[in-house]
Amino acid sequence: MTSRVPALIVHGGAGADPTDDPDELRDGIRQAVAAGWAVLRDGGSAVIAVEAAVCALEDHPRFNAGRGSVLTADGTVEMDASIMEGDGLMNGAVACVTGIRHPVSLAKRIMEEGRHSFFVGEGARARARELGVPLCDPAELVTERQRRRLESIQAGTVGAVALDRRGLIAAATSTGGIPGKLPGRVGDSPLIGCGTYAESTLGGVSCTGDGEAIIRVVLARRALDILKATTEPRHACQVAVDVLVEEGRGGGGLICIDWKGQAGWAQSTSLMPVGLMSPGHSAPFLPF
Ligand code: GLY
Repeated sequence: MTSRVPALIVHGGAGADPTDDPDELRDGIRQAVAAGWAVLRDGGSAVIAVEAAVCALEDHPRFNAGRGSVLTADGTVEMDASIMEGDGLMNGAVACVTGIRHPVSLAKRIMEEGRHSFFVGEGARARARELGVPLCDPAELVTERQRRRLESIQAGTVGAVALDRRGLIAAATSTGGIPGKLPGRVGDSPLIGCGTYAESTLGGVSCTGDGEAIIRVVLARRALDILKATTEPRHACQVAVDVLVEEGRGGGGLICIDWKGQAGWAQSTSLMPVGLMSPGHSAPFLPF
């Protein structure tokens, strides 16, 4: 069995307000890193690690995913999520789901089932019932903060990328989308290649930002192609953000881990909460 040095990076979205007290964001990112790292440290799979990290952020009301998701123009929550493993390029995704506490776990179960990759709306909810993914009352996901529409203090989409000891890379992304979106609107997060991509011989990516712009440039896969040419994840992420701004005509950010376990991140906005962990760190490194 390959024994590689594991690595994990998580993000809490490129839409965070830099004037807001960062302590809540830091706590949320720390919890997510701790959840994912506990899996990798004990020799677990990168897939389980990114699921655990993203579930922690879906549970945290400060982030725009799961409980705390932004509301549609109709005042409802409609969530999107995806996950991918980079050995067999298997993936799972859901869009426009309501009443699911952990959309990323549903995406993972769909990936594991293997027959189809992507379910939306009621069909996705039916899959959750059949695959044993817990449902909840849709009202439980609506926080008072979102009801009052304090959009300026809301962080963004969440995501995680991990490399495990076997050399498997996985990536996952989860979001409530953009505030006031029209019901039925789907952004980049559940689209493999746009919001999420993983290929173990190259790296893994999770994106955040203007979904329509990210879709235009197929950002996650594009970032891995850039990484292939530059071999330096931080530089690759910066070039990918330039592509997002110039060709995609939008803003956002992304995180990445390459096959060697080197992490990269970049954003065009003023703040993207990020947390990293590898055996060289005694505690999560939070570069924000
Ligand atoms: N990047 C999240 C969205 O646009 O829905």
